[in-house]
Amino acid sequence: MNIEKIMNTSPVIPVMVIEQVKDAVPLAKALVAGGLRVLEITLRTQAALESIREIKAAVPEAIVGAGTVINFETLDQALNAGSEFIVTPGSTPTLIDAALSSGTPILPGINSPSEAMSLMEKGLTALKFFPAEAAGGVPMLKAIGGPLPQISFCPTGGVGPHNAREYLALKNVACVGGSWMAPAQLVNEGNWQEIERLAAKAASLR
Ligand code: 3PG
Repeated sequence: MNIEKIMNTSPVIPVMVIEQVKDAVPLAKALVAGGLRVLEITLRTQAALESIREIKAAVPEAIVGAGTVINFETLDQALNAGSEFIVTPGSTPTLIDAALSSGTPILPGINSPSEAMSLMEKGLTALKFFPAEAAGGVPMLKAIGGPLPQISFCPTGGVGPHNAREYLALKNVACVGGSWMAPAQLVNEGNWQEIERLAAKAASLR
């Protein structure tokens, strides 16, 4: 698996904030049943690392990555938990070098041409565009695509059912990331059926 393949697996990568480990497996199963196999579990909760382990063990069809990797500590934790890919909100040279030397696919966050060019110097051309809406959204990605057409993006942050198609229509967008198919309320209610329905809708966006 490389990051390009992961990004091309489905049009949407669910960004998951899991508060309780008990929700991890049923949530992952619902998303995968809906057609979204690539899952990003953000390392923002106490439950995140154990959730990654449990999903990997119980949902073999899922491709399980860690999000919100922001420093060496979270990178180590993510790798030790068995994360199959790493997502960062921003890109520091030291963190990106450490992630690259692990050999695990990485989806580094950027929102400017300079950052994109720094990562191109390291051989990376598949990037997260974050925070997508706040950083200029569709017009910004179109503009970056002029001089840097070799970069393929996963815009994330403020992307939802209302605008995902516009992003996915861009030549330089491989997939989008978002949390809308796994909202906290549905997770707390254990409404896995509705989450599966939202995932199926997201999976058919392209
Ligand atoms: C995040 O920071 O949680 C992700 O970018 C997801 O953003 P969203 O909730 O706007 O989809």
